Amino acid sequence: MSLASSFLKVHQYYLTKAWKTLAFPTIKLTNLLSLFLKTSLALCTCFIISLFFYLSLSLYHHNYNYSPFQHPYHFIISHDPSTFENNNEPTNISHIVFGMGGSAKSWQDHRHYTEVWWQPNVTRGFMWLEQEPLVLAKETWPETLPPYKVSGVTSSFMYTNKVGLQFAIHLARILKETFQLGLENVRWFVMGDNDTVFFTENLVTVLAKYDHNEMYYIEDNSESVEQNVAQTYGMAFGGGGFAISYPLAEVLVKILDGCINRYAVLFGSDQKVHACMSEIGVQLTKEPGFHQTDGLLAANPIAPLVSLHHLHASEPLFRDTGRVESLKRFVSAYKMDPGRILQKSICYDPNRNWTFSVSWGYNVELYRSLETSIELQTTFKTFQTWRGYEDPFTFNTRPVIPDQCKRPVVFFLDQIEDGGLGEWTESSYKIYDNVLLEKSNCSLEVQYVNVTASYFRPELWKKAPRRQCCDIIKGTDEGSNVVEIVIRGCHQFESVTPP
Ligand SMILES: *[C@@H]1O[C@H](CO)[C@@H](O)[C@H](O)[C@H]1NC(C)=O
Ligand SMILES: *[C@@H]1O[C@H](CO)[C@@H](O)[C@H](O)[C@H]1NC(C)=O
Ligand SMILES: *[C@@H]1O[C@H](CO)[C@@H](O)[C@H](O)[C@H]1NC(C)=O
Ligand SMILES: *[C@@H]1O[C@H](CO)[C@@H](O)[C@H](O)[C@H]1NC(C)=O
Ligand SMILES: *[C@@H]1O[C@H](CO)[C@@H](O)[C@H](O)[C@H]1NC(C)=O
Ligand SMILES: *[C@@H]1O[C@H](CO)[C@@H](O)[C@H](O)[C@H]1NC(C)=O
Repeated sequence: MSLASSFLKVHQYYLTKAWKTLAFPTIKLTNLLSLFLKTSLALCTCFIISLFFYLSLSLYHHNYNYSPFQHPYHFIISHDPSTFENNNEPTNISHIVFGMGGSAKSWQDHRHYTEVWWQPNVTRGFMWLEQEPLVLAKETWPETLPPYKVSGVTSSFMYTNKVGLQFAIHLARILKETFQLGLENVRWFVMGDNDTVFFTENLVTVLAKYDHNEMYYIEDNSESVEQNVAQTYGMAFGGGGFAISYPLAEVLVKILDGCINRYAVLFGSDQKVHACMSEIGVQLTKEPGFHQTDGLLAANPIAPLVSLHHLHASEPLFRDTGRVESLKRFVSAYKMDPGRILQKSICYDPNRNWTFSVSWGYNVELYRSLETSIELQTTFKTFQTWRGYEDPFTFNTRPVIPDQCKRPVVFFLDQIEDGGLGEWTESSYKIYDNVLLEKSNCSLEVQYVNVTASYFRPELWKKAPRRQCCDIIKGTDEGSNVVEIVIRGCHQFESVTPP
C-alpha cells in the first residue's frame, strides 16, 4: 500500500469515529451542554491527530523526496537529513566534492594541471594517492593543491586485464573513499585524473541544470571512435572528469567493490564504474562541454567548456609558447569570462571578401576568401586518435589545406582586459604565422585582431544554444594593421550568409 492511500485511510478513520459520537448521543436536555463539549472535544482531538499525521507525513515526504508517483526506480533515499539543508538553493561550487586520482610517484610532474584550476578554500576535495607521497617525505604538501589522502590497499581485489595496471582499482575506489568521508552538503561527486583541467564556473553552470536529488551520471564519451569502440559509447571517460549525484553515489558505493571483482577483466577504472552503473540501470547523461580530448584541441561545441584532458600529450594550446604557459594564458582568459571561453563567432568583411572566425579567448582564424559557416564549424584535422591513428572521430573533420596561402591565418590570444566598466572585455589576438607567410610570398598587413565582447551571463546557457554574431567595426581598409571586431547576440532574423 502506498503512503498516499494510507494517509487517506487515517482521515477516514477519525472522521468515522467523530460521526459515531455525533450520531448516537443520549439526548437529555440537561446533558446538552456536556454533549456539546464532548463533541467539540472529539472533533478537536480528531483535528489535532489528523494534523499531526498530516504534518509528519508531509515532513517525511519533504525530507526523503518520496512520492509513489515517481519513477519506479526512485526509491526511498536514506539521506542524512542534514544534507538537505538549503536543498532548493541553486547549486554552487561548495556543493561539489572533487576526487582526483593521483600517484605518489608522479604527482609532481603533473601538479600544474591541477594547480591551474584548484582554488584553495573554495574548491573542496582531495587528491588520492596509492601511498604516502615519496618525494615529499619532509616538506609539507603544497597548499595550492587539493589536500592529499592515501587510498586503502587494493591488493585483495582481482585485476585480470592483460595490459592494464592494478592501479586502476585505486582510481575506481576514489569515489567510495571520498563518499565515506561523510562530508556535509554534498550534491555532486566529480572525479578527475591527475591531468584533468576543470573549468569550475562552467561545471557549476552545467550541474545546476540537473536535480541533484535524482540519480545522475554526467559527462561525455571520447571524441575518438576507437576509444568508444574499445571501451563503451555509453560510458563517462574518467579523464574528462565525470559527475555523480549524491543519491547515485550512495547506491554505487554499496556495490562498487563487488563490481571491481566481477569486472576484473576490464582495463580502466572508468570502465569498472560504468559496469556498476549498468547494474544500477543508470545511463550516461551527455554534456558536450566535457573533453576527454583523446587527440583534439579545438572544436568546442556551443556549450560551456567544462574540462580538458591529456594536455601533456598534445602540442601546447598556443603554439608560440610552452604547455604550462599556454594553459595559464588560456585560463586567464577563461577567468575573465568563463561562459564565453572558446565560443565561436563568424563575420565577413564584404570590402575584401574575407572571413573571420573567432574562438573567444583562444584564437582568430582569418580566411582571405568567403567561407560558409558549415565549413568553418568543421575542424581541421590537426590531431590524431589517442592510439595515433588518423580517423575516425565522433565529429566531422576536414584535412589541413596544403597551400599555406589558402590556409586561414591564425592569430593567438595575446592580451585580455576588462573594458573599464565591468561590462565587456577587450581581447587581442596576435598573428602567429608571419614567417611562414612571408616565405610563401603571401604576408599580411593585419598584425592584430582586437575583439570586444560583453560578459557572457551564465543564464544564457539555460536558453536554447545559439552561436553569437559579430561585426567588423574597423580595419576593413587596405593597409590596416588592426582589425576590430565586436561580438554580440544575433538579431532574430540574422544569419551568417556570405555577402
Ligand atoms: C552555496 O549555497 C549555499 C546554500 O545552499 C550557501 O549557504 C553558500 O553560501 C553558497 N556558497 C557560495 C560559495 O556561493
Ligand atoms: C585557507 O583557510 C585557512 C583557514 O581559514 C587559512 O589558514 C589559509 O591561509 C587559507 N588558504 C588560502 C590559500 O587562502
Ligand atoms: C597519473 O598517474 C598514473 C599512475 O601513476 C601515471 O601513470 C600517469 O603518468 C599519471 N599521469 C599524470 C598526468 O599524472
Ligand atoms: C566579392 O565577391 C563577390 C561575389 O561573391 C564579387 O562580386 C566581388 O567583386 C568580390 N569583391 C572583391 C573585393 O573581391
Ligand atoms: C589592439 O591590441 C593590441 C595589443 O593588446 C594593442 O597594442 C592595440 O593598441 C590594440 N588596438 C586597438 C585599436 O585597440
Ligand atoms: C617568393 O618570391 C620570390 C621573389 O619574387 C621568389 O624567388 C620565390 O620563389 C617565391 N616563393 C614562393 C614560395 O613562391
